[in-house]
Formats: sequence, structure tokens, C-alpha cells
Amino acid sequence: MSPFHLTRTLPEDTTDAALRCDVQEGLTGSPKTLPPKWFYDARGSELFEEITALPEYYPTRAEREILRARSEEIADASGARTLVELGSGSSEKTRHLIDALTGLHTYVPVDVSESALTLAGEALVAERPGLEVHALIADFTARMTLPRTPGPRLVAFLGGTIGNLLPAERAAFLAAVRTLLAPGDALLLGTDLVKDEEVLVRAYDDAAGVTAAFNKNVLTVVNRELGADFDPDAFRHVAVWDAENEWIEMRLRSRTAQTVKIPALGLAVDFAAGEDLRTEVSAKFRKEGVRGELSAAELELTRWWTDGEGRFALSLSVAR
Ligand code: SAH
Ligand code: TRP
Repeated sequence: MSPFHLTRTLPEDTTDAALRCDVQEGLTGSPKTLPPKWFYDARGSELFEEITALPEYYPTRAEREILRARSEEIADASGARTLVELGSGSSEKTRHLIDALTGLHTYVPVDVSESALTLAGEALVAERPGLEVHALIADFTARMTLPRTPGPRLVAFLGGTIGNLLPAERAAFLAAVRTLLAPGDALLLGTDLVKDEEVLVRAYDDAAGVTAAFNKNVLTVVNRELGADFDPDAFRHVAVWDAENEWIEMRLRSRTAQTVKIPALGLAVDFAAGEDLRTEVSAKFRKEGVRGELSAAELELTRWWTDGEGRFALSLSVAR
């Protein structure tokens, strides 16, 4: 049997009920919104990988620095035989952790992007003979059924992706993660930290326009899957810092008054000139806030590491 398994818990066809429902609800509400998980088709995953290499996008480099320095401490503290990674993408930084976890039996990358899972999973089994890789195509905001694998279990959620959930969604998400853990199992969480507004805005509005292309890719997904006629050039990418909520908000601003047709939903959506479609938030954190959110989910923060410049944090918390 091949050591690379891929299990699908999402329908193959993304024109499924979830996309229709999200688009219908999001584009008929006020303000207009679209949920971020639809960014990540094959092209979206590729564009995200390009973002991680941009000079302005510091989170990936900062988190990699922490993982490089701390993976052995993390491995010693967790002793995991199963590593589950939510929103694993390319699994690139995770290699530091996989190498440090000497007793690791199975790696379970979980992502909505089948292309990212296949690329990462096939590379990993080739590089790490003996490691079982059981990839799961699943939505981490829905109920997940993990394969039966040996404990202790370490769940990793890197990249600051938790910041893409709204506060109430984060609370539900962390409570669900807690149900995946037995007492003594751990969560490794990557959180981007509150910092200078200028640095934050540049990270989400880069000079080369890669983030703009990534943001607009969601329109291409809706065009392909639901037959819509969005013209990506008719929208402008905007990133704004919301100081009250301490999050970056990504938007697509309609350049003109226009009507977009979405045949699969029998819908025509009017945009006023300058009207925003909100596509994503990326919340930034402080230590006490992270500790509190974890604690509300019965997870006890035991370790907190930052990069040398204090831009990004990795925390380890234990299920009690
Ligand atoms: N962990 C990687 C990738 C972060 S980008 C890193 O740190 O670089 C966010 C990843 O989460 C993408 O791979 C995306 O496909 C995945 N993702 C986004 N929403 C998701 C959801 N609801 N369920 C599962 N995966 C999701
Ligand atoms: N998890 C990433 C983050 O919040 C996702 C991301 C990076 C993103 N750049 C983006 C999402 C631009 C939408 C648009 O940092």
C-alpha cells in the first residue's frame, strides 16, 4: 500500500450547495461579502505561495524562523506520534517540525485545496520514507473526522490562518479543535501580532500586485463554477486596517456602477461605483488575547515564542 492516502470529505464538484449558498447569501447581503475558503482553487494556492515569498509579506518568514529555532522544544514537549495540520497548504515550514518529531508515525495534512495537498503529500512521502501521510480534503470549520492513528496527537494551525476567522468563528473553531484532542495532546498555533499599521497594510497590498491578483481570484472561481460574468479588472484590491477590531480587511472595490450576472443562482447583483465587496479579514493578536481565547476552549497556553523582531508568535497549548 502506498504511504500516501488522500481522503475526500468535500464534494468533488465545487458548484455544490456550499458555494451556491455562500455566494447567494454573501452577494445579497449588505455589505456584500464572500467567504475566504473559495480563494483556494489550484490557481489561488499557487498565488498564495507567491505571496509567501514577497518582500512585504513577513509572516511566513517570521514563522519559519520560529519553527527553525523551536521545533526541537516543540517536539520534546509534545512527543507526538501523529501530527495533524489544518490548512496545511504547501506544508513547507512544517518540514522543520516533521524532522524534529523523531517518533512521528503519521502526518495528516488537512486542506480544502486538493492540488496543494497532492503536491505537498507526494513530495513528502518521497523525501521522508517511512512516514505515513494521510491527507484529508476537508473544511476545518466543519466537523472533521480524522483517521485513527496513534497518539499523542499534535494539531498545528500555522500561517496566522486563525486570523481569517471572525471572533465568534474562532471560538467555535477552537472548541471543535479541543474535541480532536485527548488530555495531554497539544495545539501549535501561529498568530500574527498587532504592529505598525503601515507594515500591516503593505503585507496585504504589495507593490507587485500579487495579493491583488489573489484577492480577485475569488471572482474567477465564481465565474468558472457558477457561470458569473465578473470582470476582475472592474474591481480594485483594497486592504484597510481596522484599528478597533485589530484586523486587516481585504476588499474588492467596484470601479464603476455595474451589474454582475450569476446564472447558476438566477441572480443579478448591482454594484454602486466605489461599493466594496468584503473578501477576508486577517486579525492580528496580542498574547493575552490568544491566552484568553485558548482558555475559553479549555486549552492552556504553556509556551509562547516570537521571532527576533516580535512580529509573529507561535504558541503551544495543552488540552486538560
Ligand atoms: N499553512 C500554510 C498555508 C496558509 S494559507 C502556510 O502557513 O503557509 C491558508 C491555507 O488554508 C490554504 O492552503 C487554504 O487552502 C486552506 N484553507 C482555507 N480555508 C480553509 C477551510 N475552511 N478548510 C480547510 N482549509 C482551508
Ligand atoms: N492566512 C493569510 C493571512 O491572513 C492569508 C492571506 C495572505 C490573504 N494574504 C492574503 C488572504 C490576501 C486574502 C488576501 O495572512
